[in-house]
Amino acid sequence: MAEVIVALDVGSAREALELVDQLPGLGWAKVGPVLFVREGPALIGELEGRGVQVFLDLKWHDILSTVAEAVRGAQGLGVKLATVHALGGRAMLEAAVQAAGPMRLAAVTVLTSHSPGGYWDTVGRTGEPDVAAEVERLARLAVDSGVGAVVTSPREVAAVREIAGPDRWLVVPGIRPAGSVADDQRRTADPAAAVAAGATHLVVGRPITRAENPRAVYDGIVEAAS
Ligand code: C5P
Repeated sequence: MAEVIVALDVGSAREALELVDQLPGLGWAKVGPVLFVREGPALIGELEGRGVQVFLDLKWHDILSTVAEAVRGAQGLGVKLATVHALGGRAMLEAAVQAAGPMRLAAVTVLTSHSPGGYWDTVGRTGEPDVAAEVERLARLAVDSGVGAVVTSPREVAAVREIAGPDRWLVVPGIRPAGSVADDQRRTADPAAAVAAGATHLVVGRPITRAENPRAVYDGIVEAAS
């Protein structure tokens, strides 16, 4: 069983709240950088006021004190889950965990937008790129640093579950209900498959935000994930 997080990838707080109001009982919403720079903390408050838990997906990667202060600030706003890059390193992850208090942190490993060759170039590695091994290495680093969740693509979720142990959250985007379009996602899974592989939280955007009947799609995904 997994919880469903709706990615509010829309242009304004008004649109975001209109969507949320169509989804009674919504447990989680994801606010990303585009919406956050436009609407900021006020939107977080509006969501919390509607009983929706906020996943703030700003993927922090910076010097220790900056990340720790941002994490502390998010926790103070009432955010329940936020992202940091595992590539920020052990000291940054540990500082973030210490600053997070009751808020849970999710580590991002290798961005799915990297091509294998592009990623290998970026991190100065030579030889045949092995991105799956990198995902596992970074997931292990995050887990060893005390991070309580890992963001993982459907393709890697089973391998990351082995590393994360039974209790950490695995937050999985790229979810597509059977028969829906993939959009620009290359690695997708249907909700039941992601849950079977070990996902605890499914992140779903366009299949819901662009649906004619968002509520029907949301309810279908919740049922498939339970
Ligand atoms: O519309 P869709 O369901 O593809 O949205 C997925 C959400 O998850 C988007 O907000 C996207 O930025 C995010 N995400 C992703 N893949 C990752 C990390 C985050 O699709 N690897």
